[in-house]
Amino acid sequence: MSLEKILAWVPDGSAAAALARQVDYLRLPGHVAVIMDGNGRWAAQRRLPRIEGHRAGIDAVRDAVEVCARLGVEVLTLYAFSVENWKRPRSEVRLLMELLKRYLRLELDTLMRNDIRLHVIGRAGELAPDVREELAAGCSRTAGNGGMRFNIALNYSGRAEIVEAARRALAAGMAPRDLDEARFSGLLYTAGQPDPDLLIRTSGEMRVSNFLLWQIAYAEIWVTDTLWPDFRARHLLEAIVAYQKRDRRYGGLKPEPAAVGQ
Ligand code: FPP
Repeated sequence: MSLEKILAWVPDGSAAAALARQVDYLRLPGHVAVIMDGNGRWAAQRRLPRIEGHRAGIDAVRDAVEVCARLGVEVLTLYAFSVENWKRPRSEVRLLMELLKRYLRLELDTLMRNDIRLHVIGRAGELAPDVREELAAGCSRTAGNGGMRFNIALNYSGRAEIVEAARRALAAGMAPRDLDEARFSGLLYTAGQPDPDLLIRTSGEMRVSNFLLWQIAYAEIWVTDTLWPDFRARHLLEAIVAYQKRDRRYGGLKPEPAAVGQ
């Protein structure tokens, strides 16, 4: 059972354990997507180079992956590197890629132990060959796992994804009348996956930053001031508890409570 799996992992008597008991395990978000933000500010607060913020952010990645897998979330998507992130100093980009490779090498056993399937969304073909190799190794090693799908968004842009999907439809010779929302969804990187139910953003920024623009149409957005390197199990559980209190109407009306005796 999910609660037991979480309680086996968080410290007894902790805030995370208390929150885990508040979660309704029958109404979990199927897909949780996260905009990991605030690594640079975390480092600046400690007068450290920015890369130390990214390095510390890896611990938060580990926590998020483990907690979501133990909860029983179907899909977790982490926004690790956007198309726009190439504008950062070369040294920062290089170190981010090194951290990613290191994460993949060191965490493969954790992914296997938790039955997690790794998947990359974004223009992975434009990444450096050594990064592509590490990603391919991680994806193929975990391909047979049947548990949570873990999408890493890399060299990702929501707008570019939509344009690519439109190009694929045209290249396949699809007639306009044959294209509908379901078919279009099937042309995106996330084909076959449920859309995010919950979008988390850290560091207090109120932006979606070109992330999963099509897929988040009805996602519930939860923003925390916590900077990504400080994000832990309790924050994720807090987001899920808050999500479960939301009234999701998908543009419709709240159903009337059934009349007594009906
Ligand atoms: C945003 O913080 C964070 C990033 C651009 C990179 C996130 C990457 C990692 C945590 C490491 C690799 C990820 C995986 C999945 C292994 P920022 O630098 O924009 O922070 P700031 O807004 O405070 O400057």
